[in-house]
Formats: sequence, C-alpha cells, structure tokens
Amino acid sequence: MNLLFEKSEAQKTIEENQTKTFGWAREMCFAYDLKYNQLWWKWLQIIEKGVYQKGDPVPYVNISAAPNREIYKQLERCYQPLRERGYYQYEFINWIGFALGIAWFQKPNIPDSIDSFLAENFPFEEVIKYPADYFSQFLAENGSSNVLSYFPTPMTVSQALNLMIEVDGEEDWTHSVMDPTVGPGSLVLPTKSLNIVAIDLSPLMVRAAAINSFFYKPQLLYVPKPIIGIHVDPNEKRVHKYYEFKTDTRIYLGNSLLGELQTVSSIFKEESPQVDIMVHPLDLKKREVYSLKHLMEKDWETLSQAERWKLVKAMSREHKFDRVLSNPPFSAKLSKSEREEFRTIEESNKEFLKELNHRNAHMKELEQEVEIKVGTQLTLF
Ligand SMILES: C[S@@+](CC[C@H](N)C(=O)[O-])C[C@H]1O[C@@H](n2cnc3c(N)ncnc32)[C@H](O)[C@@H]1O
Repeated sequence: MNLLFEKSEAQKTIEENQTKTFGWAREMCFAYDLKYNQLWWKWLQIIEKGVYQKGDPVPYVNISAAPNREIYKQLERCYQPLRERGYYQYEFINWIGFALGIAWFQKPNIPDSIDSFLAENFPFEEVIKYPADYFSQFLAENGSSNVLSYFPTPMTVSQALNLMIEVDGEEDWTHSVMDPTVGPGSLVLPTKSLNIVAIDLSPLMVRAAAINSFFYKPQLLYVPKPIIGIHVDPNEKRVHKYYEFKTDTRIYLGNSLLGELQTVSSIFKEESPQVDIMVHPLDLKKREVYSLKHLMEKDWETLSQAERWKLVKAMSREHKFDRVLSNPPFSAKLSKSEREEFRTIEESNKEFLKELNHRNAHMKELEQEVEIKVGTQLTLF
C-alpha cells in the first residue's frame, strides 16, 4: 500500500483562491468515489430511475474495523497547525465540510497559510480508498470524548449490531433504520439499508455524521425524492415507509427524546435555510396529522390535489421505523428542567386530547405510543 501522501494529481492542480469556493473538493471526491467504491454512482442511478428493485447495485462499502494508521496520522498532521493556533476541532471539521460543499458548513475563518496547507495535505483520496470510521476516533481523541456522553462504538461492535438487525440473516435493503444518537455515525456506517435516518443533539456530531456519510453513506446524506421500492410501495404506489419532504437529507439535529429537530433544506446548497423537522414528536400538537383531521375524515376521492398532497406529506413522516439502532448516553440523567418539560408536554397532551372529540385508529395508536414514551423517559432517566 503506497501511503506516502504525495499530493494527488487533482490536489496538485488546486488553484489559488479555489478553496474559497463552497464545495471546491466535491467533484474531485466524486471522482475518487467512482474510482474506488462507486457509492454515489449507484445511489444516483437509483435516484434517477426513481425505482429500486431487489438485486439492483446498492451503495455499500465495508468499513474497516482497523482504521489505517497512516491516514489517521495524516489527519492529525492536518489538524496540528490549527490546534497550535488555538483552533478547536470544529474548525477542522468545518474546513472539510466546506470543501465537500455540505450545507451545514460555512467558509472557514482560518489563516490562508493553513487553508493552503490543508488543501495540499488533506487525504481525501485515501479516506475514500480505505474506508474506516476515522472521524469517530478523531473526535473522541481530540476533545469530544464524554461531551454529551459521547463515546464511539468500536466498529466491530457496530458490525455485530448490524448483523443482529438482519432478520434471519437475510439482507433487506428497504427496511428503515433510525439512529437517534448517531454521533459521527459509527453504528450506521455498516448498516445495510437504503432508508436510514440519523439524529444527534450535538451540532458538531451532526456535521461529522454528514462528512462520514458523504464518504461512505450517500443514502443517508442525500434523499431528494421518494423512491419506489424504498419509500413507496411498488404495488399500491403509496408512501409506506418514513419519508420527509421538507429536506433532502436524513441527518437531523436536536433532542431525539422530544423529536423536535432541525436540518438544512438542501444539503448541497450553500447557506441553505434551516427547517424544523418533527420525527414522531412527543408533543401531540406538533403532529401535523391532527391539524389535518378534517381531511382524514373525508373520502380520498373527494379531496383536491393540494389536499391530497398535504395528507401524503403528513402521513409519510408518521411511519414508524423498522429498526432502531442506538448506543445511547447510558449514564445521562434528565435535568430538572427537562423533567419539567416532559411533564408539561404530558399535561398539554391531555388537554389537547380532551379538546378533540373524534380520533381515528391511527391517532389512537400514536397517542398510546407517546404516553408510553413519556412515561418511560420520566421513570428511566
Ligand atoms: C454514546 S454516543 C454514541 C455515538 C454513536 N452512535 C456511536 O455509537 O459511536 C451518544 C451520542 O448521543 C448524543 N446524544 C446525547 N443525548 C441525546 C439526545 N437527547 N438526543 C440526541 N442525541 C443525543 C451525543 O451527542 C452522542 O453523540
């Protein structure tokens, strides 16, 4: 293995000021991906067709349980000049994300000399060629360990957990998987699914997860439209798995216990506006299906196109996940204010339900689920 970190052809030709452009390294990384893993090519083919059928090539790469030491050291070397000048890991992660053109990131505010050093030395090609969870280890070893109870799951354990969620050892790429405490993504990097959702409370972790997904999990980073066979039932032609129309990414920021989150609306657009995302929120008032109760009671055939569309969008985010994969912060306790918040939600849900005089079976089911969740969180944490 030749890992002398000589500048790659592409990196040799980086022009002055090129690195000031959002996404300047994206095409170059797509080219490396095409050369080594073809993840983006496979995923974009599925998106373009709008259909996934069993047997189609799927974006998947084995993530090594032993990150390549030379690449890891090179990441450390790249971070060193920033660390020496008092910059935190955030600036480093920000530099990478801006280079890839991921909407969570802004133009780095670092000296030009460091910017050029990073552009020349960051091992984009090697990170793609030798897939491993470099960023979990990097963040854990550079200050994030135990922040919000962050401890990365070793890749061997992540791989074992992923094997456990395969029913009878059979791969089903269409089941939906959610990690409510994703960190940089250790658990979902080996996941064999085309429908993955990831949440974290830490803005740094969400950004690291976005970078990891860019390199190894395009189906988590970018989902611009519902796909038949993944989100849409091929026979009934209705969205039958979790789908969110407000954004084209599946990485969300916020407290997964509450389900009230945020993300960018277009993951590859510079300064893309942020949108609020609700993933099965505990606060029933925030479930859009209730505000559409009047439409749900009507016959589908009598609804206008606009009304149908509204209902489809609201119902698409109501689907439960087929699998939930998580290494939660086991030692975390709810703070006094969080307990208060849960109690307030509990009370407000009771009031809200009292005011509604008729609910359908789906609503009753989700009310039960919320009641159990609130109860569990108040007793467990
Ligand atoms: C033990 S780490 C696991 C990270 C990653 N899934 C892994 O296995 O390596 C727990 C993660 O949960 C996040 N976290 C803690 N409380 C959370 C909450 N209420 N909602 C969402 N994420 C949370 C932390 O920021 C941290 O990244």
